[in-house]
Amino acid sequence: MAESVEPPRFDLARRIRWPQEDNKIPREIFTDPDLFRAEMDGVFTGPVWVLVGHESEIPKPGDYKTISMGAAPVIVIRGANARVSVLVNACAHRGTRLVEGPSGNVLRGGFRCIYHMWTYDTDGRLIAVSLPEDFPQEFRKEDYGLPRARVDTYRGAIFATLNDDAPPLLEYLAELTGGLDKVLEDGALEFLGSIRVIFRANWKLYVENIYDGYHVTALHTGFQVVRLRSHGGERLVPNYERNGHLWGRSRSTPVNQLTPALRDMSLFDTRTKPTTDHNMMVVFPSGVVTDYFDTIQMRYVIPLELDRTQIEFAFFGRQHDPEEARLHRVRQGPEVLGPAGAITLEDAAALERVQLSATARGENVVLKGTPKRFPPYRHVDEAPIRHFYQAYRRLMGFHSDDH
Ligand code: FES
Ligand SMILES: [Fe+2]
Repeated sequence: MAESVEPPRFDLARRIRWPQEDNKIPREIFTDPDLFRAEMDGVFTGPVWVLVGHESEIPKPGDYKTISMGAAPVIVIRGANARVSVLVNACAHRGTRLVEGPSGNVLRGGFRCIYHMWTYDTDGRLIAVSLPEDFPQEFRKEDYGLPRARVDTYRGAIFATLNDDAPPLLEYLAELTGGLDKVLEDGALEFLGSIRVIFRANWKLYVENIYDGYHVTALHTGFQVVRLRSHGGERLVPNYERNGHLWGRSRSTPVNQLTPALRDMSLFDTRTKPTTDHNMMVVFPSGVVTDYFDTIQMRYVIPLELDRTQIEFAFFGRQHDPEEARLHRVRQGPEVLGPAGAITLEDAAALERVQLSATARGENVVLKGTPKRFPPYRHVDEAPIRHFYQAYRRLMGFHSDDH
């Protein structure tokens, strides 16, 4: 009798020993190439909703953007009927990437594959093939559409899942909708542009960094330069028993009370809201949403390889913004919260160093705030990282008999 074979991810989980304590993280999870491949299936095609964009990035029929859901390259497109679809970016014939580049419009012409010129419409239907004369008689174009993800939106934010067992989006987001309501408001955003950069670090290091309130004042000297200090707030982990999203709500020094360490402090102005209070959210597993200062930003975390992660920083304004506010957001977004910005610049350096020495084996440890077992945590705590890895371990099948 044939032995039953378990999916490979369970074998991997046995191969890597996760310490009993839930505040310890084995460094092998950042260096094991087989685990990386298993994560692309276990996490990104698991029962999760991946944040893939905002409707304002593709406002007109035929507009599309490219992104990946883990290892699956996809096209996020507004069809001729204005409906948003997420299509796998691989020709149904022999798998060629259909569209290169970050964005465009294909209302006229659709997607034509370079290899044998099969052509798809904006809904992913195959509409033309070249020289079909000697194809098998039973060939029907209807059978060769592009695979599509399930799609749903929340206040204009576009989510997709490749898994039939994913719960309804609202159930998945749970109380995180409270934070998204604050940042996205009525969803009427204007897309201002985006920057894509590659971090030489494992994708999980990027995501856990957002949960980490501890590093913010230690690493980010930019905050010290502008004398911006946290004055409270909290780190919530909505749905932590299932998905472990993050919702950090922070209160900071009002701009008019900042000690002007720079001759010109206007870069840090908050012109569209009265305070520097802000939200910083992770939509598990790979989406970031924030409204720091006047910057409305989403980040999409795209794992490329074990130690290479593309982060797309997308910037938004509100549709009713006065021109002056719009220009302020265009300047502030990249210069403060872009990959080379005054505040976010340092993360790449720190995370790349973590990655470089992860080969040393051993365990990383999470301490600050961990005597408290459950959220809410203080805004300066790193304890929420535990919940990120709890959700990750559940999806991957790592044994977690410690909580
Ligand atoms: S691979 Fe696309 S048409 Fe052949
Ligand atoms: Fe940071």
